[in-house]
Amino acid sequence: MPAVVLVGAQWGDEGKGKATDLLGDRVDYVVKFNGGNNAGHTVVIGDEKYALHLLPSGILSPGVTPVISNGVVVDIEVLFEELDGLIERGVDVSRLLVSQGAHVIAGYHRTVDKVTERFLGKRRIGTTGRGIGPAYADKINRVGLRVADLFDEKILAEKIEGALDQKNHLLVKVYNRRAIEVQETVDELLQHAERLRPMVADTGLALNQALDRGETVLFEGGQATMLDVDHGTYPFVTSSNATAGGAVTGSGVGPTRVDSVIGVVKAYTTRVGEGPFPTELFDDKGAYLQKAGGEFGVTTGRPRRCGWYDAVISRYAARVNGLTDLVLTKLDVLTGLEKVPVCVAYDVDGERYDEMPIDQTAFHHAKPIYEELDGWWEDISRCRTFEDLPVNAQRYVRRLEEISGCRVSAIGVGPRRDEIIGIHDLIHARA
Ligand code: GDP
Ligand code: IMO
Ligand code: MG
Repeated sequence: MPAVVLVGAQWGDEGKGKATDLLGDRVDYVVKFNGGNNAGHTVVIGDEKYALHLLPSGILSPGVTPVISNGVVVDIEVLFEELDGLIERGVDVSRLLVSQGAHVIAGYHRTVDKVTERFLGKRRIGTTGRGIGPAYADKINRVGLRVADLFDEKILAEKIEGALDQKNHLLVKVYNRRAIEVQETVDELLQHAERLRPMVADTGLALNQALDRGETVLFEGGQATMLDVDHGTYPFVTSSNATAGGAVTGSGVGPTRVDSVIGVVKAYTTRVGEGPFPTELFDDKGAYLQKAGGEFGVTTGRPRRCGWYDAVISRYAARVNGLTDLVLTKLDVLTGLEKVPVCVAYDVDGERYDEMPIDQTAFHHAKPIYEELDGWWEDISRCRTFEDLPVNAQRYVRRLEEISGCRVSAIGVGPRRDEIIGIHDLIHARA
């Protein structure tokens, strides 16, 4: 009955989509438990490349039941656009289940996201502008709209009225924008309600029953540990729990049922949007990683900021998520470097920190303390066992394992499905 949680261990875009796809043949359910269409996952199958935002990557695996659970915020229009795109390419999406408790992103959430970012000026977060933060804010403020509300027009209109009450004052008086009409939002959301209805289910019940039957459930995190609203680099974070605990609250499956927690890490580090990033490179090495790794956002197309591997962060991710395994991706991108620095600790105003500093100011001041490892030149994209790797690449992986405090169970050596080295089985019972 394995329940496996897979999360990003850095600032996102670690290759979670590829890792999920890798496990697709062996799982029965894949659950998106947090975030919304701020995510961007690329999966390359043969010559086909898929970019997924709101749907879990597991939707591409035949026989898997994809689930959008209660912890997600759903933009219904985007959901159907994405589904139609996949249907056109011959993907069977008929099993998709959507939780009645998932929150709905309305047009006003997108509007508020964009105007608040503009208003924040140099203090902006650099959001994806998809309305994610405002939709979660309404959820916590108890003025959110849930999927179930779409099937009772009267209730829906009342809730939208409640939600718009304050927002319209803000939009008109503070942001100098036009007020949004209740009916306009009702019409926008009801457009797709009938198409959505057959997909709506008590997904918490369905997932628990699947585990009771001995089936395998994979919880696929969007975003990542350092973007988690509680454990990330607040306030430069997303508005949901992207860490392993989010899989539990975001799905209605209890923590005692989780068997393993996989953290996906890149062999270096990237970040999109604003916020501190100790190992960020501003020189030709950063430009090299960006080019060699194709580091441009799947959702917004923004160039990703690049830097060396940061073991303070991966140790922190191992702790916060209770990681049992690491999937190390993009090792191939480091091929051709004479030396590969890895950050083992921080220097904060003259003091050594082996653990994440707890306050924002210290983290902003953190300077990486590097250890330099020897590089390799051989093309590793055809390596399929650990022993196939050049000795220096093997040493790099072993050293990352030591300093990150978690075993590496698979290594990505290219974007394609088969470009992977398996070391330990990723689906296993609790140790
Ligand atoms: P996600 O958001 O964590 O699913 O990751 P993204 O899809 O946003 O970004 C990861 C990018 O790296 C995608 O373009 C993948 O196709 C690519 N990728 C994943 N694993 C590897 C790997 O091992 N090597 C290389 N070169 N690319 C990879
Ligand atoms: P995946 O799942 C990388 C970042 C945004 C911004 C911050 C808040 O592909 O790893 P939001 O729109 O969520 O309110 O923006 O979070 N961000 C991501 N960065 N990968 C993602 O998802 C991200 N989702 C959000 O750039 O800094
Ligand atoms: Mg991504």
